[in-house]
Amino acid sequence: MVKKYQLFIDGKWVDAISGKTFESVNPGSGEVHAIVAEAGADDVNRAVRAARKAFESGPWTKMTPSDRGRLLYKAAQKMWEKADFLAEVESQDNGLPISDTKSIAIPATIDVLEFYAGLANKVQGETLASPNNRFNYTLREPLGVIGAIVPWNFPLMLTMWKLAPALAAGNTIVIKPAEQTPVSILELVKLFQEVGIPDGVINVVTGFGETAGQALASHPDVDKIAFTGSTKTGQLIMQAASKNLKPVSLELGGKSPNIVFDDASLEKAVNMSAFGIYFAQGQVCAAGSRLFVQESIYEKFMDLFIKKANSIRVGNPLDQSTEMGPQISEEHLKKIEHYVAVGLDEGARLTIGGKRLNKEANGYYFTPTVFENVTNDMTIAREEIFGPVVSVIKFKDEEDALIKANDTIYGLAAGIWTNNLKRAHRMARGLKAGTVWVNTYSLLDSAAPFGGTKQSGFGRELGVQAMEMYTQTKHVWIDLNEN
Ligand code: NAI
Ligand code: MG
Repeated sequence: MVKKYQLFIDGKWVDAISGKTFESVNPGSGEVHAIVAEAGADDVNRAVRAARKAFESGPWTKMTPSDRGRLLYKAAQKMWEKADFLAEVESQDNGLPISDTKSIAIPATIDVLEFYAGLANKVQGETLASPNNRFNYTLREPLGVIGAIVPWNFPLMLTMWKLAPALAAGNTIVIKPAEQTPVSILELVKLFQEVGIPDGVINVVTGFGETAGQALASHPDVDKIAFTGSTKTGQLIMQAASKNLKPVSLELGGKSPNIVFDDASLEKAVNMSAFGIYFAQGQVCAAGSRLFVQESIYEKFMDLFIKKANSIRVGNPLDQSTEMGPQISEEHLKKIEHYVAVGLDEGARLTIGGKRLNKEANGYYFTPTVFENVTNDMTIAREEIFGPVVSVIKFKDEEDALIKANDTIYGLAAGIWTNNLKRAHRMARGLKAGTVWVNTYSLLDSAAPFGGTKQSGFGRELGVQAMEMYTQTKHVWIDLNEN
């Protein structure tokens, strides 16, 4: 059944002013499963106006921080009640296997909301050292209207990374979902409305990047943009945001190194390195897409790794036993195929995969792919593929690994596999990345700040740190002299 969705503005469901709609496709079948209103710049204006009104004069701002936190916590409880439903909607919209949506993506998303619900009444300023004849203190205040532009790989989770801290700090928000995956976010905001989040606090403008996204990023009455997506679009967003000098946080692409030393626990290194690249079909910003294996264990490790990669069950995302679902779109599939061709052209050896799978109807399935004999200067070692394609590179020793790992424009994440404590700490310091995993990969925690260095962006989402991005400091100076 094809469902219909409108824009969510000022607590109401409304058509786009133009009356336009677009189709959301289920990547598992290639079939349209929802028709969604297509916001233009005028709709973004409406949404920003509603968010501004809610921020300046609505009940939201007058509410005590504890009550705000309580409402967010109620929304989290609603999400637990609807967790299976949200998981199904999400998997249908973006192709993530249902077992992963149910056991990883949705619980992690709700955990983030609970984490920030608890922080709503812990936003604090400071009393400053000052002489007796004056009083200096700081207030930590919300910024105002937040614009959130989110991608399609983890729509609910990456929305929540922005929505939860923004609301906990007392801001209001306009969310622009990715055009490929608008549905789950629209279902999510229904739950927030049900628990009594006031009108205008959350608004959702579904639509395309060049129109709705651009209008939001350049809007003069938006106070901050939080973005996750490609480095190229991140650059455009920074430019657009410069119009009114609004701050931006950018969580962009990566080409993250995952480094296996010869003293690692082999089995776990194999399994988690496979998870690191094949989880979510490789459509993960922190994917361990450059796998560095020490020469001395190369054959042994790769034997096991290829067995593991070959064992992955690719199929319908709604099937409970599926381990890898479809890619997001035909366009994205073509991009991945292009990189496979370039890899072969430049002399890498395609050990397994590299081709489409004709599974369910017209879904966008690709096989787990391994390239060996890759050197760090090849295109497939330098550019983000964002698919189930790993580039395996040999290294000699610690120094060699560090030089190669850091030789990239990106710096989002890195993994190290070793049982040598000193080496682990040396590498953790030496790697230029926002997150370093030691003897694990791709794990996230609501309390742990996440974000990039270099062209992977800036700003840290999650953790207590994220609250800083959604608040600003005001200094108050009170003269205590009698006259
Ligand atoms: P994208 O960065 O273009 O899209 C992400 C979001 O930005 C979407 O909501 C889109 O509508 C919006 N957007 C696009 N152009 C915009 C503009 N000019 N102004 C404002 N908003 C705009 O990513 P896309 O095209 O879907 O994927 C391309 C590549 O980006 C992927 O192959 C992958 O390499 C990377 N990517 C990285 C993600 C991450 O988690 N860091 C997530 C999605 C994509
Ligand atoms: Mg794009």
